[in-house]
Amino acid sequence: MTQDELKQAVAKAAIEYVVDGEIIGVGTGSTANFFIDELGKIKHRIKGAVASSEATAERLRSHGITVFDLNEVETMPVYIDGADEINGGGAMIKGGGAALTREKIVASVAQKFVCIADGSKLVEVLGKFPLPVEVIPMSHAVVARKLAALGGEPRLRVKDGKPVVTDNGCYIIDVLGLSITDPADVEDKINNIVGVVTNGLFARQGANVCLLGTADGVKKLE
Ligand code: 5RP
Repeated sequence: MTQDELKQAVAKAAIEYVVDGEIIGVGTGSTANFFIDELGKIKHRIKGAVASSEATAERLRSHGITVFDLNEVETMPVYIDGADEINGGGAMIKGGGAALTREKIVASVAQKFVCIADGSKLVEVLGKFPLPVEVIPMSHAVVARKLAALGGEPRLRVKDGKPVVTDNGCYIIDVLGLSITDPADVEDKINNIVGVVTNGLFARQGANVCLLGTADGVKKLE
């Protein structure tokens, strides 16, 4: 099976977690996109969705799904999203698609985080995937120095010669060379650097369930 087929399989399996008549939180990325396409097929069963990025909002609307502003929503039963890495305890690295801050905000309102990922995302120790950190643009150099002092190798994310700008008007620093044995501690330490909006470690509030796409079928980690 290709990686896309594995992503599609977990996206289909995640439909089981959609709660009828409720609002659902929806993540960002290629796996989340497959999920949105599945959600479109059962859109009559849900009230609508909260999107974790402009791209996700656009795709949800293209399927005729109502997109709610998070400020109108107090709670939701489930948030479904992909990950760049996940460990056996449900801690993740996210933000490969630069949507980490909105993803973390929407997830914080949900009662359950369902992670959907192809099997290659399961790791023992987080950090091989560069850790994304969203920063206020004027602070990127000072934050990079502080990230280097923590032992990482910070790189400003650039596309076509210009810094990538997030939906929040901020920049992304990707931190290479980390071996994250205590994800909650690293999440806290990086979030404490002035100028950081948030970082892509989802450890304080990780995944409650992970649906992993493998050649032997969809495996569930709880
Ligand atoms: C976007 C994310 C994505 O969930 C993560 O990058 C995984 O993406 P994909 O499903 O395309 O592999 O955190 O900010």
